[in-house]
Amino acid sequence: MAKSLFARMLVVYLLIIFIAFALLGGIFFETLKSQFLDSQMNIMKENAKIINDWYTLNYYGQMSDDEFLAKLLIKAANEHTVIWIVTPLGELRFNADPEDKSNIEDVYSAGNSFDFLSDTMKGIEVKRVSDFNNSFKDTVMSVAVSLKADDTIHGAIVVHKAVKDVGVGINAIYRQVFIPLLISVAIAAILVFILSRYIVSPIKDISYAAGELSRGNLDWRVKSKTQDEIGELAEAFNKMAEELKMQDGLRNTFIANVSHELRSPLASVQGFVQGMLDRAIEENDRDKYLEIVLGETKRMNTLISDLLNLAKIESGKFPIEYSQFDINELIRRSILAFEKRIEDKQLEVNIRLADEKLFVWADEDRISQVITNLVDNAVKFTPSGGELKVWTHAADNKVYVSIADTGEGIPVEDQPYVFERFFKVDKSHSQSTPGTGIGLSIVKRIISQHGEKITLQSVPGKGTTFTFSLTRTFEGASPNPRV
Ligand SMILES: Nc1ncnc2c1ncn2[C@@H]1O[C@H](COP(=O)(O)OP(=O)(O)OP(=O)(O)O)[C@@H](O)[C@H]1O
Ligand SMILES: [Mg+2]
Repeated sequence: MAKSLFARMLVVYLLIIFIAFALLGGIFFETLKSQFLDSQMNIMKENAKIINDWYTLNYYGQMSDDEFLAKLLIKAANEHTVIWIVTPLGELRFNADPEDKSNIEDVYSAGNSFDFLSDTMKGIEVKRVSDFNNSFKDTVMSVAVSLKADDTIHGAIVVHKAVKDVGVGINAIYRQVFIPLLISVAIAAILVFILSRYIVSPIKDISYAAGELSRGNLDWRVKSKTQDEIGELAEAFNKMAEELKMQDGLRNTFIANVSHELRSPLASVQGFVQGMLDRAIEENDRDKYLEIVLGETKRMNTLISDLLNLAKIESGKFPIEYSQFDINELIRRSILAFEKRIEDKQLEVNIRLADEKLFVWADEDRISQVITNLVDNAVKFTPSGGELKVWTHAADNKVYVSIADTGEGIPVEDQPYVFERFFKVDKSHSQSTPGTGIGLSIVKRIISQHGEKITLQSVPGKGTTFTFSLTRTFEGASPNPRV
């Protein structure tokens, strides 16, 4: 079997076409042929009527036997037929066979050749296409009708005609059927050729594009024109390429960000330590600078543990340890850790917590990480004097936690990507917005692992609100609501 998809499709389609047309042509031809033979036999029946008229004349003595036979012979010769006049006893009274087509000895020896008489004696006509019980060398069409005179049946008139003598007519039918059939097959074959090309060419495009991608050309796209499944495939392929390109870009910026995030604290640590060793820093200022050094090492530590966390979560080696705890309490504790930064920025903090205690079923450490990351962003991306709002809201068996700020907001076109790894709206490594773009991707993964959802609402210049859901439980009840 041919190797290429195109060749295989072509072979299969062509086979289907040929089989279908052969079947159709065969059936059509057989139908036409039997109709044609039928019409020929009707003509023969009409001739039998004329013969019956002559017989009537012969019966009343107006035409002699010799004259009758002569007329039969002329008619048979003109029409290439064999005419029999058969008596009720099965004797062949006249046999007009000018072209010597019948095996007349066999007609008699066969004995049962005149089995049609039982029908014709009752006035029933008989039509056959056969060799008439070996009476003929070739296949003949035969029509037998009653021989009548004086309102009584005197035997039968049988007219035979060799099928091959009407062959010219059948050949015409062959031509009528096969030439259009051949033309149709040719047109169908051409259409199939074009169709196969049409189907296969986008697949070839896609496979070429896949090759380009694997060679690292992430800008290559498939030009899909069709609206069908292959068009969808091409579109999906292009989306994948887009995604790959984005991931590639994000990875590159991530490496740049991480390097930057590590280099600047390392540089300052190095500078201060060097300054102390060189005694360039005064004894009195030592503690102040050691404080800075400690801060920087803490920052690096956080960054590295974030990276490790993300790697662990992504590899699935981070099982969730569920427990029942008060989310309101966790929020209060988490925000307390930001006290200093909030004061530095003079942010107004508004916390509105539904109920005194609100129990949820989740991994407390992970949720603490979620809140910390969200509050960290809110504080980081809100200018001095802005507002930080945190509230909880219970509905049905869910608790919703919202963290909102009046910061710079996130441009609408960037909103779909903020949960992607390493995504940052501000791609420059400005000191004003430190970060590597993993905070939200960790948040998203933790929430998804819990089977919950996180949404974001943001208006550039006005502020941003993140809201995530948790499963609510009630103190005293079975702590795990899923059991
Ligand atoms: N509250 C917010 N207001 C405005 N922009 C935000 C806010 N939260 C997130 N963003 C945007 O989404 C990006 C991704 O946030 P994410 O927390 O993942 O990364 P990061 O804060 O830059 O770095 P990291 O959290 O790893 O220190 C941010 O860089 C910022 O551009
Ligand atoms: Mg962050």
